[in-house]
Amino acid sequence: MTARTSDIEKAAGVLRAGGLVALPTETVYGLGANAEDPAAVARIFQVKGRPPAHPLIVHIGGAEQLDGWVQDVPQAARLLAEHFWPGPLTLVMRRGSRVPLEATGGLETVAVRVPDHPVALALLSAFGGGVTAPSANRFGAVSPVTAGHVRAELGDAVDFVLDGGPCEVGVESTIVDVTGDVPCILRPGGVTREDLEAVLGHPIAVPSTSRVRVPGQHASHYAPRARVVLVEPEKVVVEAELAQELGHQVGVFLPPSFVGAAVKAHAVVAVPGSMAAYARGLYGFLRELDQQGCDLIVASLPAEEGLGLAIANRLRRAAGPRPTV
Ligand code: TXA
Ligand code: MG
Repeated sequence: MTARTSDIEKAAGVLRAGGLVALPTETVYGLGANAEDPAAVARIFQVKGRPPAHPLIVHIGGAEQLDGWVQDVPQAARLLAEHFWPGPLTLVMRRGSRVPLEATGGLETVAVRVPDHPVALALLSAFGGGVTAPSANRFGAVSPVTAGHVRAELGDAVDFVLDGGPCEVGVESTIVDVTGDVPCILRPGGVTREDLEAVLGHPIAVPSTSRVRVPGQHASHYAPRARVVLVEPEKVVVEAELAQELGHQVGVFLPPSFVGAAVKAHAVVAVPGSMAAYARGLYGFLRELDQQGCDLIVASLPAEEGLGLAIANRLRRAAGPRPTV
């Protein structure tokens, strides 16, 4: 879906005036501001309810625009950018002079990516600068993958919502830190570990195996209102029916091997067999089960390979311990 030229111009004007624009990317919708305007960046944190120490991603129009945004571009970063930009890959490098500390949560590193979405690229080109954008959801909640999700969650808090249709990838970008001796994955996402390894020519560490502290990644994140419980795939139906009998309104993520099975639960989502389709649908499924009034979601983890790694990471976080209120 391509937004009208007048909408792109309007969105660029809002950014120039220090406002907030929700923009489509291939991963999820972002809540964008002029990256070089500390007051606009501060509003992002306010609208999201996000703690100020959580760093944001700066979106630019192409790898040739990196000057000023980062201080130096390591060889591995050049290689990865060449292969995966525009695309769902974010690179953490040393912060350049154009990036205010407000955008990095005080860090001397900055996360940068070039989104692969015609509307996002048209906006970046019309605006001319960098757009800093976290996912356009309230802190800790499920990321939006349609303009409707953004409007429902943020409403008037956003100055303009640029509608670019549903997001193709459906989970956030893969974040790779290239500031150390060897690149490591800080967050699995739309570019798979296997694809990164094929380009780099060596294995790459992921969060569960690396000890890197990732700012802005809490136990409970990407979470719907309903509590998420993860069980073995073959126990999904049994556990869901038990919880339903105990009085819960249960939503079930039914694994492909059970497709067609009758389940005594409040709502059922048939998990697609293709990992690309699962990633694309994941956040919509979680929202749907919330909307249907489920208080408990029973799901299982896919095999942690390819896009399954990112899906499993989001499901684990959705099931993570909630802050006590
Ligand atoms: O696909 C995406 O990445 C989406 C779209 C809108 O581009 N954006 C997104 O942003 O997911 P957000 O703010 O929800 O997640 C960005 C994550 C932060 O949680 C933080 O962990 C990491 O990026 N991050 C940002 N800057 C960093 C830095 N300098 N060092 C380490 N991690 C950083
Ligand atoms: Mg987010």
